[in-house]
Amino acid sequence: MSAGIRRIFAAMTRHLRSLLDLTPAETHRVVDLAAEVKASPGAYTKALEGKSVAMIFSKQSTRTRISFEVGLHQLGAQPLVLSTSGGTGMQMGRGETVADTAKVLSRFVHGIVIRTFGQDEVDGLAEHGSVPVVNALTDLYHPCQALADLLTIREQLGSTKGKKLVYVGAGNNVAHSLLLCGPRSGMDVVVACPESLRPNATVLDRARADAAAAGTRCAVITDVHEAVKDADVIYTDTWVSMGEEEEAKSLIKILSGYTVTEELMAATGKAGTIFMHCLPAHRGEEVSAEVMDGPRSVVFDEAENRLHAQKALMLLLLEGASWT
Ligand code: CP
Ligand code: NVA
Repeated sequence: MSAGIRRIFAAMTRHLRSLLDLTPAETHRVVDLAAEVKASPGAYTKALEGKSVAMIFSKQSTRTRISFEVGLHQLGAQPLVLSTSGGTGMQMGRGETVADTAKVLSRFVHGIVIRTFGQDEVDGLAEHGSVPVVNALTDLYHPCQALADLLTIREQLGSTKGKKLVYVGAGNNVAHSLLLCGPRSGMDVVVACPESLRPNATVLDRARADAAAAGTRCAVITDVHEAVKDADVIYTDTWVSMGEEEEAKSLIKILSGYTVTEELMAATGKAGTIFMHCLPAHRGEEVSAEVMDGPRSVVFDEAENRLHAQKALMLLLLEGASWT
């Protein structure tokens, strides 16, 4: 391929660096297609035949890695699971630049999925490569999780529109993606967190602006009981994210009082409130065992939906399925 054609392709390439890459209509489209793929998986078994996707994991993963790997296999593509350390690790782990990695991978594969620490690595791969790049979690965002969560909410509650989701815990990557999801799905999103663990100010400002334009609510409240009133969804995540292990003790101390218990579920005042968690869960910390394993918990449907949402995303980014 000539350098000129490569540049044209690169300019046309879509990515999922964060949910900022999707309009509300496109977000809706991913969820619609995910539901379609879930209902009729047999219709898509050859959709990505002959394509290869590099999946770079610099952090651990169960759901994301397995659902991407299985999903790509189910679509007829070849997933290449790559780490950045150890004897089979990529040279990126030894200092090869993100730009060089992006250019090389773009000569071999049709897409790049990456889980890493810095958002700059995801953005750099997208900037310097010429194939779609998907953020499989960074310290800042977890957009694939949020897209699957929209499918789960739609299945459980009929629609995301007009629903209230309350995220209880630290203002982290998962909280950031849920905040951006609100205005893209017609949902009110409230983060209940201690003052010292508020969401990133830039992300929050953008979520607030998007929510104002979409007519949805976006709020951060420290009083967890106040926050959960009328919630349709109570959502939580681990108190100690990957990379924060050294701060574990202080995070657990700051967040005590933010455990999702039966009592907090009842404080919504709604009988049908569901409980969600991106997993992995720590019973007795962010959620009690009774809630996690109780009748309102939809966490395993939520985990399964990672597969369907990511298959939809791969079809839209790699196969050229229509975004409208
Ligand atoms: N929820 C989630 O991303 O899980 P993994 O870390 O296991 O991929
Ligand atoms: N906030 C968590 C999410 C894990 C899926 C982390 O980054 O470790």
